Amino acid sequence: MKRRLYIGTNTKMFQTGREAEEYIRRMDELIDDIRDRLEFFFIPSFTSLERVVRAVGERIRIGAQNMAWEDRGQFTGEVSPLMLEEIGVRFVLIGHSERRHVFGETDIMEAAKIRLAADHGFTALLCIGETAQQKESGLAAQSVLEQLKAAAGELSPEEASERLWIGYEPVWAIGTAGTPASASYAEDMHAVIRSGLVELFGEKGTEIPVLYGGSVNPSNAPEIIERNGIDGLFIGRSAWDPDRFNGIIRDVLPVFERRADR
Ligand code: PGA
Repeated sequence: MKRRLYIGTNTKMFQTGREAEEYIRRMDELIDDIRDRLEFFFIPSFTSLERVVRAVGERIRIGAQNMAWEDRGQFTGEVSPLMLEEIGVRFVLIGHSERRHVFGETDIMEAAKIRLAADHGFTALLCIGETAQQKESGLAAQSVLEQLKAAAGELSPEEASERLWIGYEPVWAIGTAGTPASASYAEDMHAVIRSGLVELFGEKGTEIPVLYGGSVNPSNAPEIIERNGIDGLFIGRSAWDPDRFNGIIRDVLPVFERRADR
């Protein structure tokens, strides 16, 4: 079976429900002829989820940007997996860099969320990535492996291979202040992460998709996806205009498929 390209976006705190629905309806049209070659996903704000699921949920995988680590409780402001399930969402982003570095989430919290997501049969996109300081101190590999083990190390190989995706997103590469990683740096780090996955989950660790994210744009996307071990792209800003995002997808898809064939 041909491998599919993993590609999608998290819109952070940028789109209202109306904007998110308009955006995803347009993306749904734009990718229609290539959707079976993609694992396409969309991660809008909580308040957009229900209407977006209603609009395109049968055709596009819709995810939440975060989730609580308990089903119920005294957690004002949090959203439970029960609430996500109720509106048809079974895909969740865990440990995005902004959750960790702006809102102070720790590896222990990410681990509890990953456990709960697996218990509910959700697919979790776990983000890991080193800070600039860790990179400069030569601790990039060690730091992503620690994050990976801390958050996902308790999953069984079956749970991990069926329901875990990894987003490698170097903290220094994300957002308006970020500088994109070079393709060769991304390739090296993906190899590190793959070896960590195999160490944790054995053969099953080879099946888990690892996506690159952090200042992906129309000019660097093809050279990143050309690199071995990069199963897809997780894009912020450059994906929020449908035509621009569609352009990226169409540029990288043949590159990915050529690479996957060899
Ligand atoms: P960016 O965001 O593409 O705008 O750098 C990536 C992310 O935060 O996942």
